Amino acid sequence: MTSALSAGVIPAAGSGERLGAKRPKALVKVGGCTLIYRAASKLSKVVDEIVVAAPVGYEAKIAKSLRKLSVPVVVITGGRSRTESVSLALGQLTPGIRYVLIHDAARAFAPISLIRKVLQMLQGGENAVVPAIAVTDTIKIVDENEHVQSTVNRESLRAVQTPQGFARALIDRAHEEARLNELIGTDDASLVEMLGATVLIIPGDERARKITTASDLLHYRNLKQKMKQNVKRSDSKGGKV
Ligand code: C5P
Repeated sequence: MTSALSAGVIPAAGSGERLGAKRPKALVKVGGCTLIYRAASKLSKVVDEIVVAAPVGYEAKIAKSLRKLSVPVVVITGGRSRTESVSLALGQLTPGIRYVLIHDAARAFAPISLIRKVLQMLQGGENAVVPAIAVTDTIKIVDENEHVQSTVNRESLRAVQTPQGFARALIDRAHEEARLNELIGTDDASLVEMLGATVLIIPGDERARKITTASDLLHYRNLKQKMKQNVKRSDSKGGKV
């Protein structure tokens, strides 16, 4: 184990079109807090600094909302793709950083225990660590006419989450290669895989589910509401919160 410095990178520059909200997804609120605040405040309990890639025009607003976190936070303008947003954020890390945890703002409810576990695996010597859960649906590959081509063996499928953790040198190299070859990945591990490096999967967490659609948002809003009601109930019974 080592106590070398770690950083959190939060791609939060998505428009959230699929959510159908009036503002960018990172600024949508659940239980009174924005998704970016929830994601960054949890990360701040584990890492030494944070870089956020924000939607154009929202940089100052996001920086202001995060100014009271316990670690330094830098907010930059995000890129045209998630890969570009992460790449730009990596360029802002201070030189002493050895481990990087890349965490989607859209996975704002990932628990601190999961974030800590990813960092611990890096500190233990792993170079690329990705939380994931087993896929319970049967997945089929289709052609352009929606005709089924084949059925994938579910046993070997994993749905990956964030935070994804990397040794800094490795993720810097992966993004540099991606930039040179104009490659875009839907996650960061895929760029590391292209270098031929080993990526370790660890058990993910249902709470780290990505908020993409209005029904995902409703799920978390209902959950928060239920938690609030439970707290009120135990308060009125004189119970400990
Ligand atoms: O689009 P998708 O849901 O895969 O986005 C995952 C994360 O990447 C979100 O937190 C989103 O804000 C972020 N993103 C970004 N820059 C973009 C597009 C997406 O930071 N250009």
